Amino acid sequence: MCNCVRLGTDEQVKKFEAVLEEYKGSPDNVMVVLQKTQGIFGYIPELSVKQISESIHVPESKIYGIITFYSQFTLTPKAKYNIDICLGTACFVLGANDVLEKIKTKLGVDVGEMTSDGKWIITSCRCLGCCGLAPAMTINGEVYGKMTVEKVDEILDSFTD
Ligand code: FES
Repeated sequence: MCNCVRLGTDEQVKKFEAVLEEYKGSPDNVMVVLQKTQGIFGYIPELSVKQISESIHVPESKIYGIITFYSQFTLTPKAKYNIDICLGTACFVLGANDVLEKIKTKLGVDVGEMTSDGKWIITSCRCLGCCGLAPAMTINGEVYGKMTVEKVDEILDSFTD
């Protein structure tokens, strides 16, 4: 099972292997296996799909069909904190792009990318519905308004865990 190594930590892989063992040869439990897999890794790694397929005897194509049909499943790793920065008109004219550039430089990633420690991901949107607070962004849904380049360090550094 050396190909499991890249799936995640040793502990995650161990738990995943236990799930495969528990549901071996039982295609009716595909949803349960996918839920447990996502519970272990935080998402469904593509590498895991082949193993799930072989273990519970469900074709990979069907598994991908289920993953993409149900919004509860994701093939993309989720970071601990999602910074969603608004680049809508109200925010843009008040300097949202400068704030975004500062965040990108500070974290060393671009929009849509996750930091290598899995802590941060930056996304952008067209309006957060709070234009009076422009430029605005959210971190895991919490709004940070009247953003400035100077505020970025203080806010991001306050997430110490
Ligand atoms: S345009 Fe940014 S919150 Fe509406």
